[in-house]
Amino acid sequence: MAHPLERDPHQLPPESFLEEVHSFAFWFDAVQGYLGDLEHGHRRETPEAVLSPLEREHLVTVLCNYCVGETAALEGAGGLIQIAPNRHAKVFLATQTVDEGRHLEVLTGRLRELGVEDPEAEIARRGSRSLQEFHRRLLELVRGRDWIAALFAQNVVLECMEFAVFALHAKRADPRTCEVLSGIVKDERRHMGFGENELGRRLRDAPYARERLRAVRQELDALVLGSFEETMDAIGTPRADRTELGSHYLAAVARLGFA
Ligand SMILES: [Fe+2]
Ligand SMILES: [Fe+2]
Repeated sequence: MAHPLERDPHQLPPESFLEEVHSFAFWFDAVQGYLGDLEHGHRRETPEAVLSPLEREHLVTVLCNYCVGETAALEGAGGLIQIAPNRHAKVFLATQTVDEGRHLEVLTGRLRELGVEDPEAEIARRGSRSLQEFHRRLLELVRGRDWIAALFAQNVVLECMEFAVFALHAKRADPRTCEVLSGIVKDERRHMGFGENELGRRLRDAPYARERLRAVRQELDALVLGSFEETMDAIGTPRADRTELGSHYLAAVARLGFA
């Protein structure tokens, strides 16, 4: 039998597709290819870059904000398991919860490598208020058992935000941070795919739900863009570079068909 990654699951009928792709076996085959030999999310031999005090300070602030986002994703994905409408979605979200826990762990590990002794305290001190508000709103949607809106907030808005920020940052980051982020981005792509697929099917069956998502998006976009601004203020990003991040995020959401 072909290796799971050599088969194209898109050729399968819908039920078999879900059975195949939303399984721990598929997840394990997907992640072992790029996580197998890593330690704290990067290769053991990758050297630590020499950073100036200011560069280190900026990197710590940015990583603390990633930890706020990943904590929201961890709690959001875990909470969504309770309200997911079927076994396939519950199993996928269980794999996603594991991914998000790993993301939080490797990012916290990166903070420790940079000399942060108490990452939790540092994350609380440096985390953007907009991102913390996003976290609160996401959990409110989950607690309200609003499957479509909560899944949209988690697997479209939050995932697109993380995907845009990490992919852009990885291009410019020091070698260790770049490897950590590149591994995370591969997982986030899978999470975005799940959101797109699940919501795409729902919207075909209930097109009126699109209006609801538009309202949720309007509210959450403001928090996402606000969190970019706050982080860029904290790290002193020049005006000219700021629009790139926002437009990356908006393009990622549009690519999933939620413009
Ligand atoms: Fe994540
Ligand atoms: Fe994710």
